[in-house]
Amino acid sequence: MNPIQLFDTASSSYTYVLFDTTTRDAIIIDPVDTQLERDLQVLRDYGLRLVLALETHAHADHITSAGLLAELAGAKTAAPVYCGISTAAVQLKDGDTLSFGAEQIRALHTPGHTAGSMCFVWRDHVFSGDTLLINGCGRTDFQSGSAAALYHSLTQVLFKLPDDTTVWPGHDYQGKTSSTIGAEKAGNARVAGKTEQEFIAIMDALQLPPPKRIAEAVPANLKGGLRHDAPPANSLQVQSATGYAGDISAALAWAWVQSGEAVLVDVRSDAERAWVGFVPDAPAVAWKQWPGMVSNPNFDAELLAAVPAGKKVALLCRSGVRSIAAAKRATELGLEAYNILEGFEGDPDTHAHRGHLGGWRRHGLPWRQS
Ligand SMILES: [Fe+2]
Repeated sequence: MNPIQLFDTASSSYTYVLFDTTTRDAIIIDPVDTQLERDLQVLRDYGLRLVLALETHAHADHITSAGLLAELAGAKTAAPVYCGISTAAVQLKDGDTLSFGAEQIRALHTPGHTAGSMCFVWRDHVFSGDTLLINGCGRTDFQSGSAAALYHSLTQVLFKLPDDTTVWPGHDYQGKTSSTIGAEKAGNARVAGKTEQEFIAIMDALQLPPPKRIAEAVPANLKGGLRHDAPPANSLQVQSATGYAGDISAALAWAWVQSGEAVLVDVRSDAERAWVGFVPDAPAVAWKQWPGMVSNPNFDAELLAAVPAGKKVALLCRSGVRSIAAAKRATELGLEAYNILEGFEGDPDTHAHRGHLGGWRRHGLPWRQS
């Protein structure tokens, strides 16, 4: 059985979906933000339940959709621990295995392209990220890259896998889709038959221009691809969005609630509202519930019951991400739905504490502790 291989033309990136044929539990490797709808459709077409979204490294050439997939499809996010992707629920170390149904995938730490980069082994397949490409390899000239480390990862880690292991790369620029460890060991132009010094000289001589999107992609990818390009906290403008009526500030949401134009629906879990605080009189319709953050099976019915006909709905979550998923769903249910930017608590600060970087509470809007 082969993985499902998906391609993003803009960044020449491959995304992979693997699944257990019995339980239909699936994982996705290196999903791309602009392909989110395609990937969700693939999951629906195959009847899959996404349990994990995995990153091989913090990409510099595209933004991941892992954070959104966590909200929209219920997946857990997993990333190499040395990549600094602080939002990933599972921080992978060398040799860690992850299960989906009865299937297992194993993480191999393969530094070189970046210091944290990993490859993933599933059955007789390896997902080689940007460590090993077909007849090539990832660059090593930025993001803590190291040609010496990459030489070691290629020759001492990946080339120790059985020769008939299928190699599924993170990119290809010539339309090639897969290779084998044996073929790359014998013929890869960068590394086959080369000494470490020769390999380092080849990598040093590449002189590549920086990736086009590095300045925006790396910071976004360190947070699972979640972006909070919020307008000023008090902006009363609706920002356009895809899949729902728009993004709004907490201030605009509160103005609408006071004028009776909108109902504010809190989509956080019961536990979050109880621990952190809540907006008085805002109906609570959890998108997911603690423990386990499983999707609320009654979301649709509860939401429709909470919003009177003719009113807008403004959706509030912790940091403005779950509320995007909820706003999309509300739109599908026929509501005029808005996402409240920054949520109740805003983004985590450098100490991973929330509440100091924006959010409903920080902006001084009414809230109560239970
Ligand atoms: Fe990369």
